[in-house]
Amino acid sequence: MSELETRERLTPGPASSAIQWDYAPSLEATDHFKLESRYDLFIGGKFVAPHSKRWFQTINPATEETLAEVAEGDAEDVDRAVREARRAYEKVWRKTSPSERAKYIFRIARLIQEKARALAVVETMNGGKPIKESRDVDIPLAAAHFFYYAGWADKLEYAFPNRNVAPVGVAGQIIPWNFPLLMAAWKLAPALAAGNTIVLKPAETTPVTSLMLAQIIQEADLPPGVVNIVTGAGATGAALVAHDDVDKIAFTGSTEVGKRIQRAAAGTKKKLTLELGGKAPNIVFEDAPLDQAIEGIINGIYFNQGHVCCAGSRLFVQESILEPVVRKLRDRIGTLRVGNPLDKNTDVGAINSRAQLEKIQELVSSGVEEGAEMYQTSCSLPTRGFWFAPTFFTGVGQSNRIAQEEIFGPVLSVLTFRTPEEALEKANNTPYGLSAGVWTEKGSRILKMAQKLRAGVIWANTYNKFDPTSPFGGFKESGFGREGGVQGLAPYVQLS
Ligand code: NAI
Ligand code: MG
Repeated sequence: MSELETRERLTPGPASSAIQWDYAPSLEATDHFKLESRYDLFIGGKFVAPHSKRWFQTINPATEETLAEVAEGDAEDVDRAVREARRAYEKVWRKTSPSERAKYIFRIARLIQEKARALAVVETMNGGKPIKESRDVDIPLAAAHFFYYAGWADKLEYAFPNRNVAPVGVAGQIIPWNFPLLMAAWKLAPALAAGNTIVLKPAETTPVTSLMLAQIIQEADLPPGVVNIVTGAGATGAALVAHDDVDKIAFTGSTEVGKRIQRAAAGTKKKLTLELGGKAPNIVFEDAPLDQAIEGIINGIYFNQGHVCCAGSRLFVQESILEPVVRKLRDRIGTLRVGNPLDKNTDVGAINSRAQLEKIQELVSSGVEEGAEMYQTSCSLPTRGFWFAPTFFTGVGQSNRIAQEEIFGPVLSVLTFRTPEEALEKANNTPYGLSAGVWTEKGSRILKMAQKLRAGVIWANTYNKFDPTSPFGGFKESGFGREGGVQGLAPYVQLS
């Protein structure tokens, strides 16, 4: 270690040595598109009023203002959508040639790109995430998924060599609120490429970009009934899971609901994939490039307000570098800009819902009660809407709730280790296994850790990087099945 590095590591910094530059507000415009005041269900290629005759208000969590009214589908509506999906499957989509299917998927991708600006603004207004994330991450990745799977549609015999490949049939897909359009893309694109038809159930707090996608699907001239979108809450999702004529269920969301769905699907013909929660370890060794690691830690947990199933929510720091890591972390989170998600300078936006905010608050109080030491930024938070200041805990015990349970908010638990074996043992000590991060200069150590970490995705010297070509999914209670890559086609095909 050079003298300079030693000094850097040992000099204690003042509580908030970082400089917070004030930028003039730079708000993304919202006048270049118009939302409907009310959205119906998208069934059989048309928007139709719900049988339930009920609509609910969907809000902007940063202001609590209503954005639109959205239909609440009931079991009858789900049945209508499944019947349309079945008809479209038997009469049209399974008979459509693979290269024709590809053209439709490609067209959807192009239309998402064309409407990217409006989609990004609406994603931010309905979900609370900073515009720079919806603009630079969510929407481009959603388009990329459709492009990628368009490419597979007429090459399935290369994806599964020496096998006969057939679609599964009607897929019921239930998605969460943390990446609304992106999760719709993850689910729809491989299913369409493989020749299935779909009933999609968006999350109740973030339905609007899925309904804009329904408009895109109409514009792309996809045959009616190939994609149906039924909005509503948990009961609507449960009706879809319970429907007899659904061949496959794909779910992303809480482990609790995932278990319930697994029970409901047991003993039926339904194929199932689940992508559930996480409590990812982000492991920093003493030889890691520290400033780069700090950026990765920040990105790993404060990105998208920590509403990320693969968030690096448990930071394991090698004991010898605990002091500089904690100091740098404290300085860096002091510079995060929390506030209006439509401002291009905002780093941390609004919490998605009041219920999620209450869950975060409750778990954070448990951390304080269990004796961990809390550090929270002193940024001022808006008075309306749902907000939580970036927070981390030191002195966290392995058995503390904040080290065990998914918080799904901008809250990091810092733990320590001495040897790689101890890091592995502690990192794997969780019911989850979705993702992990490793920070070290040593390539051999990266490989060794990656082999022994029980997680579906492992990032080395980076964090939260996504690509449509790369499979994503969990071990243990984080679920089963993979989305993305050639592996992402497997749940949507029957092989013989
Ligand atoms: P949730 O699991 O209840 O919701 C996810 C989706 O499932 C939504 O579309 C919802 O309407 C639907 N759903 C709810 N109950 C259902 C049922 N019985 N049958 C079928 N579908 C059902 O998640 P929630 O309540 O929004 O969040 C709770 C916690 O779950 C979060 O605090 C977070 O820890 C975790 N979560 C994990 C996600 C992930 O990406 N793995 C995404 C969202 C939440
Ligand atoms: Mg729930």
